[in-house]
Amino acid sequence: MGALMHAHDWSTSPIGSPGIWPQALRSAVSMMLPSKHVMFVAWGPELAFLYNDAYRPVFGKKHPWALGRPFREIWSEVWNDVAPLVETALRGEATWSENLPLVLERNGYPEECWFTFSYSPVRDESGKVAGIFCAAAETTERVLAERRLMAERERQRRLFEQVPGFVGILRGPDHVFEYVNDAYDRVAGKRGFVGQTVRAAFPDLEGSGLFEALDRAFATGVPYVARDVPLSLQRTAGEKPDLLILSFTFQPIVDEGGAVTGIFIQGQDVTQEHQALAALTHLNATLEEQVAKRSHELVSIQSALRQSQKMEAMGELVGGVAHDFNNLLTPIIGTFDMLLRRGLGNDRERRLIGGALQSADRAKTVVQRLLAFARRQPLQVVPVDLVALIDGMALLIGSTVGPNIDVRVELDEALPRADADANQLEMAILNLGVNARDAMPNGGTLTITAACETVGGGHRSGLPQGDYVRLSVADTGTGMDETTLARATEPFFSTKGIGQGTGLGLSMVHGLVAQLRGELTIASQPGHGTVAELWLPVSFGSAVRDHALRAASVAAASRSCVLLVDDEVLVRMSTADMLEDLGYDVIEADSAKQALELLDGGAAPDLIVTDHLMPGMSGAELALVMRVRKPGLPILIVSGYAEVEGIAPDLPRLAKPFRYEELSQSVAALFGTNPSR
Ligand SMILES: Nc1ncnc2c1ncn2[C@@H]1O[C@H](COP(=O)(O)OP(=O)(O)OP(=O)(O)O)[C@@H](O)[C@H]1O
Ligand SMILES: [Mg+2]
Repeated sequence: MGALMHAHDWSTSPIGSPGIWPQALRSAVSMMLPSKHVMFVAWGPELAFLYNDAYRPVFGKKHPWALGRPFREIWSEVWNDVAPLVETALRGEATWSENLPLVLERNGYPEECWFTFSYSPVRDESGKVAGIFCAAAETTERVLAERRLMAERERQRRLFEQVPGFVGILRGPDHVFEYVNDAYDRVAGKRGFVGQTVRAAFPDLEGSGLFEALDRAFATGVPYVARDVPLSLQRTAGEKPDLLILSFTFQPIVDEGGAVTGIFIQGQDVTQEHQALAALTHLNATLEEQVAKRSHELVSIQSALRQSQKMEAMGELVGGVAHDFNNLLTPIIGTFDMLLRRGLGNDRERRLIGGALQSADRAKTVVQRLLAFARRQPLQVVPVDLVALIDGMALLIGSTVGPNIDVRVELDEALPRADADANQLEMAILNLGVNARDAMPNGGTLTITAACETVGGGHRSGLPQGDYVRLSVADTGTGMDETTLARATEPFFSTKGIGQGTGLGLSMVHGLVAQLRGELTIASQPGHGTVAELWLPVSFGSAVRDHALRAASVAAASRSCVLLVDDEVLVRMSTADMLEDLGYDVIEADSAKQALELLDGGAAPDLIVTDHLMPGMSGAELALVMRVRKPGLPILIVSGYAEVEGIAPDLPRLAKPFRYEELSQSVAALFGTNPSR
């Protein structure tokens, strides 16, 4: 440029030829020309342009035309941009512009360029600003490179944003956050921790082992992979920390030299998947539990069903056999009884007959218990006052259980009456008392209580809803294990040894309460005693009525007449025999039909004693007919079969088999007095 300036024709230039340039201009030009930095000097009122070699590329095709020409002319395309700077410099102030974008037309087309430059005012000898000295650097390349870098970064950021899961880049051994994507912010529950160290950004993770894992990955260059890590993170200030489950990798970032410079974190928040899985697992477990429970219930229902079917079948069988036996026993007992009363035979024979009668009596008890179990007992169901009944039994119970056992009776005085058969209920209570005694060989306490209870749905007794009288017999004895308890009411089940117990006590109780539309429940545990509860329906009936027929007492004539009706010859014979023995005249009939015929034919008995179950008309039906035909004529029904439904409860009854004494009492009760003999 020095050479060019030397050869230049300055004659038309306002600054004139270099020979007349002021010292200040010369100094500036001599500083500028040898420099490799981009420089120019603009001088004089038109700011004539002088530049060095380094400046030439800035001009492009404008070189060498531009030499010595006015600033404004050669840089007309950017004049608006630089004019304020020029003015500032001319006012005596230096300027500084960094990366100033300028659109130049140095190559014949507009081109976006960037420059960093300063304008310094240059003063002449008089101290006045006469020119500008500019040192510049074209930064177009760098700016474009930065732009490309920024674009690249933006592209990467967008890529990271789209990476499934959270992404973060840590730098240096202290793990300073350099970058995180939005997902990272979301998982962390906060933003703006770029620039912080992980330890500063996540103080609550101290102790989780993760910082140490980062240190290790950084030190060794070995990635750290973590699956399903539960972490508690305080994400919302003031609230309790959230429990997150994360899966992630710490991937060391390695530079060209192989040194670890940072850690790349990439991971997934799997909390929801885990929650869903946990819910599913829980659901599954609940389902399995339900299924197990249901099948358990099914098994117990099945076994209960089997048990009740078994009892049902046993009842059928036992009931049939017992009924036959009962009918057989009636004449046996009657006959032995009569033989004994008549004093037939010698001493030895009479003892034998007495023994036989005793055995027959025991057989009768067994048969009655069997009938009770089979629910085929002839019952006289009336409203029973349990308070009176138990009070009346107190002495009997006391003497049965013996002095070693403390008997306590707690009765609700306001107890309503219960539908029951008083005699059979007494038997049942006695059976429970005997069981309690046997369970307390070394003494204890027997507690009898009675109270009214309302039974709701799903009651342990399985009873339909309603009001019941609960009669409980509790002992402090040995109790029963599960197996014994399960079989206790089975007929012939006994743990008492041969000859000791028939195993029919509880069977009888169970059958009786069932026949009374009640239930027997037993609770027992070995070593903790036993509680047997009888549930009896509360009676809607009034007090026990006096038998209408009993009231109509017939004045006993010198010799009253009994009409005896029974289809079985043997039974009829032995009963007739007893009645005659009791001092009655007896007319016999083998059916209800024959009895009516006899009555039609003029027979006038003072009492009818009739079997119940007979071919044709039953005893109960005969009684109904007689009520119409001869009201006031007492009738005693002898029944051995539980056709209770057919027999009105107010009809006096005598259960088969019976002994002389029992017949005597029943008949006497009907007459009100003993007939004269
Ligand atoms: N209060 C009780 N404490 C302990 N075990 C009892 C009790 N009651 C009944 N058991 C058990 O139940 C079994 C059956 O009782 P159940 O009354 O039916 O017959 P038993 O008492 O053995 O004979 P029986 O009553 O004819 O004398 C008894 O053998 C006994 O094992
Ligand atoms: Mg018993």
